[in-house]
Formats: sequence, structure tokens, C-alpha cells
Amino acid sequence: MDAACEINHLKLKNTSSAKKQISLFSYVEFCLWNAIDDMNNFQRNLSIGEVEIEGSTIYHKTEYRERRNHYSFFSVNVPVDGFDTSRDVFLGAGNGNAIPDAVREKKCRGSVASGWYPIASHQINLSLAPGEEKEFVFVLGYCENPEEEKWESPGVIRKDGAHALLARFATPRQAEAAFAQLNEYWDGLLSRFTVESGNEHVNRMVNIWNQYQCMVTFNMSRSASYYESGTGRGMGFRDSCQDLLGFVHLIPERARERILDIAATQFEDGSAYHQYQPLTKKGNLDIGSGFNDDPLWLIAAVAAYLKETGDFSILDEVVPFDNRPELAQPLLEHLYRSFRYTCTHLGPHKLPLIGRADWNDCLNLNCFSKEPGEPFQTTGPSEGPVAESVFIAGMFVKYGREFAEICHQTGRTDYEEEALRATEQMYQSVLDAGWDGEWFLRAYDASSEKIGSKECREGQIYIEPQGFCVMAGIGVEEGLAEKALDSVKERLDTKYGIMILQPAYTQYYLNLGEISSYPPGYKENAGIFCHNNPWISIAETVIGRGDRAFEIYEKTCPSCIEHISEIHRTEPYVYSQMIAGADAFYHGEAKNSWLTGTAAWTFVNISQAILGVQPDYDGLRIDPCVPSSFGSFRLIRKFRGSTYYIDVENPDGVQKGVSGISVDGKEIAGNLIPVEAGKTEYHVTVRMG
Ligand code: BGC
Ligand code: NOJ
Repeated sequence: MDAACEINHLKLKNTSSAKKQISLFSYVEFCLWNAIDDMNNFQRNLSIGEVEIEGSTIYHKTEYRERRNHYSFFSVNVPVDGFDTSRDVFLGAGNGNAIPDAVREKKCRGSVASGWYPIASHQINLSLAPGEEKEFVFVLGYCENPEEEKWESPGVIRKDGAHALLARFATPRQAEAAFAQLNEYWDGLLSRFTVESGNEHVNRMVNIWNQYQCMVTFNMSRSASYYESGTGRGMGFRDSCQDLLGFVHLIPERARERILDIAATQFEDGSAYHQYQPLTKKGNLDIGSGFNDDPLWLIAAVAAYLKETGDFSILDEVVPFDNRPELAQPLLEHLYRSFRYTCTHLGPHKLPLIGRADWNDCLNLNCFSKEPGEPFQTTGPSEGPVAESVFIAGMFVKYGREFAEICHQTGRTDYEEEALRATEQMYQSVLDAGWDGEWFLRAYDASSEKIGSKECREGQIYIEPQGFCVMAGIGVEEGLAEKALDSVKERLDTKYGIMILQPAYTQYYLNLGEISSYPPGYKENAGIFCHNNPWISIAETVIGRGDRAFEIYEKTCPSCIEHISEIHRTEPYVYSQMIAGADAFYHGEAKNSWLTGTAAWTFVNISQAILGVQPDYDGLRIDPCVPSSFGSFRLIRKFRGSTYYIDVENPDGVQKGVSGISVDGKEIAGNLIPVEAGKTEYHVTVRMG
């Protein structure tokens, strides 16, 4: 906590009856501080590596000389018997990391890197008597010197920062104390929502791993992982807004900051940079804007924040557009522009224009009308492409109503009425032009041809509009929702999860774009995109089918599928972005674990839709939708400074419906537990029936 370092605390114990002689080698390989240069500017960067050795500490000071005031170091808390800092020398010609020369010959060379590839390796020779144990603390740290000292002695690093940091973690007991502190921090976070149910997978994923992954997506967005390297991705506008749905209950104050950061990248017309870089907070110009779902995700994020915290002051925060202070407006106005963006970008069927793409980045329906080399235009039906998205229509109904509710809460009746009218019209447009007979259409392409229709040769049904339209309540009363979800089950389901579309595209189509560039079964072309499986599960809870909702939950739940790790292949405790679909050669194989919206949406699904704890403006609403055999369960939820102990009983094994709730022994009317000022604990019993 509060230290820029990674600690490896190593204990070696001799459990045999013979004396052991051990040579221990550490190894880290340094990056050269510039994500882009590191990957492509070898003519420069293979001449800039510099290190310095001081006792057991190896300093990596590359790039220090020019403009930086930072350096890193790798150290161990005992005297060393050798070191290496040149990768080539340590490994030896032609060797990989598996058999470095230095390790094979038990002898570091004492190499000093100058250019090429700087590493840090310590060699420690030790002997262990039977039963004897020795401990080592390795610290990999990062330091910044004060700005005013930056130019003091160019090329010479000041080591006091490193010395101070190392002094904090010099002994095994100090390392243990730091680890205990870290545990305490995570216990604090993870105790904000816990469940005790009869299902060990739900308990394990909800109480630990799903929420942990939500924090990882908060910290990294899409900016650095094994699958997103360099600066290609960064912070996604839509991605970060959705991530927030999964971490807002854990760190509401940080969620507030994040919302303001994201909103500051929005343009005046409500559209947004699709991505921005986390350090500069500037939008990626090469990707730009034009993903027409982006604006609406800001409403989703802010609504979630308001319901979690009740902190309406955020709506008055004055936030720039495009990070230009002269263009600043209150956050509420940003939300209004988000909402208006859809209203002013409608196509011939009165459905939202898709722009470059909607949630599905690869559904590029305006390729067709684009001349080679001509920029995308998304300015309106008369001026540009006319491809329309039923998915955005569903989103607009859902989040347009959220916006109306926010306006209602804050007394902006003018905006509220406008939003209610517009969502009503959109609802009607979906019924008029977005229904295909057995399911919701996906889109219209630039020539107004249907996409995701039974009339199509391939790609007849897509998952996204089925999930979002039903989550928005579209077609529930009309009996369409059930049909749409039955079609999903019939046409898109597999034992490993629900595919994004069927039948897969077997060739490249210019009017569809990147989606058809993938081989059948992978990614957006009929892969199981885990991110939108929870949408279908939540949609099932909207119509009360808890058995099916949970079946969907279990299919992609990492803990539930640990026994097929040979097929699934990613970590059995982390959600992955995609699992190969039925058409793929390796059906069931997952890719891109960690940084995916799957984490947040799955947590929303299990915590709010299935277990049924829904933060609302005036309190916590309890409305579970579970399998009939799920049994009773107990939840502990921290909310607005109080702790809720919630026991859910389900004597008749119903899938949905609450017949009574008592709070501290008193029956309440309805299923919303109102916030009572000053109360710190709520003891709640919920009876389903
Ligand atoms: C991938 C998408 C991703 C996009 C990001 C595409 O190649 O298929 O999943 O969102 O790149 O730019
Ligand atoms: C991954 C991207 O990060 C996300 O923004 C997008 O919605 C999905 N891919 C689907 O294309």
C-alpha cells in the first residue's frame, strides 16, 4: 500500500535430512520506458540502456538522462554472490529464459549493460541444514525525484528515494506487515458485498474473484495487459463507463473521479473520443469518434453512481468538453447532450444511426457507402451513411429512461418530459421496424438492408438486441421478449455459452466490415462474447425465468468450468472476453482474460439481477430471480455508510417474486428498503413467494 514496488518474499526450507547447497537467481527484464519506442524504434532504444550497481541493488536508469526524473531498481535484502544486468550475457547466445548460461553454470558474469537489453539478476549461494529455513525479500521498485532536483546533476540518479523505499521493506517481518496491510485493504473492499449460498461457485466468484477483476478493470481499463500492449487501446469511453457498473460499490469516490475524467473527453455535440490515454487524458485522435453508442454509456455510469451514493452534487460539477476548459458545462448538461446525440442522429426507420459501429466494434455497416480514403461521416441521414442500429435503440430506451429519472430526481421536468417522449417514440420504432418475427433485428446497413434477420443468408440472429431490448423492457408486455429469448436459446446457445450471432459469416462482406474478417466462431463473428451473455441472463430475470438465467450464468463462470481447463485454457478464476463458438476449430477455448466488460456485467447480473440487491435512488431494492432449487442465502451489503444483513428465504422454491420483507423485525410495504438517516445496521429478512 502506498509504495511503488512489488515485493517477493521468498522462504526456502530444507525438509530433507541432508544438507542442501542452493544457488538462487532472480531475474527481471526492464522495459525502456516508452511503450511505442520499445516495440518499434530499435535503432534508438538498443543504444540507450543504462544501469548502475550498488551492493545488492541494481538501478535501471535508462532515459533518466534526457528529460525524466524517474528510475527503477531491483534489490534483495542480503549480500549477493553475483549479478548480471545484460540479458545477452546472462542467457548466453541462442538461449531462451528456460536455460540461461548463468543458471546452468551457477555463475553470474557480473555484466554491466550498456545499451541492448538491460535486466537485473542476483545470485545468492546458500546452504541449508536439515530443517533449516532462510528468507529473502526482493523489492522491485520505482522512484521519482522531486521536480526541482531533476536537472541537478544530469545523468546521475539520486538514490535517496530508493534507499528510503528499501528501508521500509528490509526485513521479512516488514514485508509480512506490508502484506497484512494489503490484505486488510482487500478485505475492506471485498466485504462490501458478500454472499453465503449453497453454491460454492457463486460464493467464490462473488466474494473474491469477480469483484477483484472489476477492480483490475478499474485500474487498467484496456490500457495494459498480455492482450493489450503499447498504447493502442487506453481507456475506452464505453469500456470504462461499463467497468464502473462493477466497481462503483467498491470505491465510490474513485468512481466519481473517473466519471468526471471520462465526461471531459466528450465533445460538445454529445459524441465522444472512443478512447483516451490514461496519463494525458487526451482522446486518441487516430481512432477519433463516431461510435454512436458511446454517449449513452455515460448516462449508464452516472445513474449507477447516483443510485449507489445518492450524491447528486456530481451533476453540478462543471466539466469541460474535449478537455477544453472554455467549453465547460455541468455534468447534467453532458448527460443531456448524450441523450440528444441519439435524437439528432436517426435514420430512415427512426432508429439510431450506427456511425462507425455500436457496441460491436466490428459491425461496420457504413463501409459500403464509403469511398476509399474518404473519412466516415456520421452527421445525419441526408449528409452521410444511413446504417441504423436496433441495439442502440434498446440502449436509448433503457438509458433515456434513466436520464428521465435523473431529471425527475433533480426537478428538471423539461428534460424529463423530453426524454420520456423520445424514449416512447423509440420504443415504437423498435416495434415498427426492429422486430423480425421471432427476434429483434440487429440493424439496417447503409443501403437499408436488414442485418440479423431470417431473410439474411448468414448472420440471421444476433445476441445484442435481444439482450438490450428486453433489459429495456421492450416487448415484455407484447409477448415478444419471451420469443426473442427463446430464439436465443434455440439458435445461439452452446454448452460453453451463448454465441454472438448465427449462422457465422463464411466470407468477407464489404457492407459488414471487420466482423466478417474473422474466421467463423472467433470474436465478433459467432464467438461466445462473454460480455453480452449476462445481458441475456439479466433479460431472463426481467421475465422471471431464474432457472434459465442461472444456467447462463454458470456456463461462463470460470469457477464452474475449472474441470474443463484443458479446453477453456484461461485462468479458472477470471472472466475472458471471448470463448470460441461452435463453428470454431477449438470450440470452448477462451481468449483475452482480465480486461473485459464481462467482469462488470457479470457482477451486475449476479449481484443485482439474480441475487437481487439493487441500489436505487431512495434505498436498496431487493428482487431476486433465482433457480427454483437455489435455496435460501445470506447477503451482507454495505450501502451509503450502513451495513445490511439480508437473509433471503424461499420456502416454495419460486424463481421470482417477493412476498414480504421485514426490516429489524418490522414488515415494510413493497421491496424497497428506504434509507433511514443515522441508522448503521439493517437486519433484513426477505421471503420469496
Ligand atoms: C476487436 C474488438 C475490439 C476492437 C478494438 C477489434 O479488432 O475484434 O473486439 O473491440 O478491435 O478496436
Ligand atoms: C472489445 C471492446 O473493448 C468493447 O468496447 C467492444 O464493445 C467489444 N470488444 C465488442 O466489439
